[in-house]
Amino acid sequence: MRINKYIAQAGVASRRKADELIASGKVKVNGSVMDVPGYDVQDGDIVTVEGKTIAEKEKPVYYLLNKPLGYITSVSDDRERLTVVDLMTDVTARVFPVGRLDYNTSGILIMTNDGDFAYHVSHPKHEIYKTYRARVNGVFSEEKARKLRKGVDVGPYVTKPAKVEIVKWDKGTTTVEVSICEGKNHEVRDMFKTLGNPVLELERIAIGNIKIGRLLTGHYRKLTREEIEYLRNA
Ligand code: URA
Repeated sequence: MRINKYIAQAGVASRRKADELIASGKVKVNGSVMDVPGYDVQDGDIVTVEGKTIAEKEKPVYYLLNKPLGYITSVSDDRERLTVVDLMTDVTARVFPVGRLDYNTSGILIMTNDGDFAYHVSHPKHEIYKTYRARVNGVFSEEKARKLRKGVDVGPYVTKPAKVEIVKWDKGTTTVEVSICEGKNHEVRDMFKTLGNPVLELERIAIGNIKIGRLLTGHYRKLTREEIEYLRNA
C-alpha cells in the first residue's frame, strides 16, 4: 500500500496531508526519514509520523457464532476457562464478542473487530430485540407471561416490556420464548426467578431478525452483507 494511503487509512491525516508530512520529513520508515512519496509499505515496516508509530487498521470482520455452554463471553479469562474466541480457530483478526451470554447460556453471539459496530448493536436505545428460548422449572402460566409483557420488578430494576410466547408445558417444565432489548446481566434468569420459575436451560435463538437457523453449536459463519447493514441501521 502506498505510504500516503497507509497513513490516511490509519486515521492520522488525509492523503494530501500525508504527502505534506512526507515532504516535510516527518515520516519515518524503520527509523529512517522516508522521502519517496510513492513508497510502497511492506509487511513488517514500522511507519512513524512525527515520532508516533501507526498501525495498519485491521479489515473489519463480522461473524455469527453459536456459543456452546461452558465458554465465557470474553477474550481472555484469569481463571483459564475457555472463551468464545477460542472457538474462532481460523479467524486471525482480533475479534471480540458483542454483548454477553452467561457461561451457562448457549446460542448466537456476534463476533467482530469493529468497535463502533459493536457499540451500536449492543446499545439498548437501538432496540434490537434478542430472543431467548428458556426452559423453566414448573408451570409458567399465561398470567405470568402477561406480567413479563408489562415488566417485572427483579429487585435492582424493573424490566422493560418483553415479548413472551409460551411454547409448551412438559413434565413439570415450561418452554418459553422471550424477546428483550435491554440485556442487563442475567436479566432473563432474573425475570423468571422473580416469577417463581427458575431457568433450567437458556439459549439465544435470534438477534433482531437474524436467527440461529442451522448453525451448529460451536460453529460460526460470516454475517452476510445484508445482515451487517440491517444491524448497522437498526
Ligand atoms: N439473560 C440471561 O440471564 N443470561 C444470558 O446469558 C443472556 C440474557
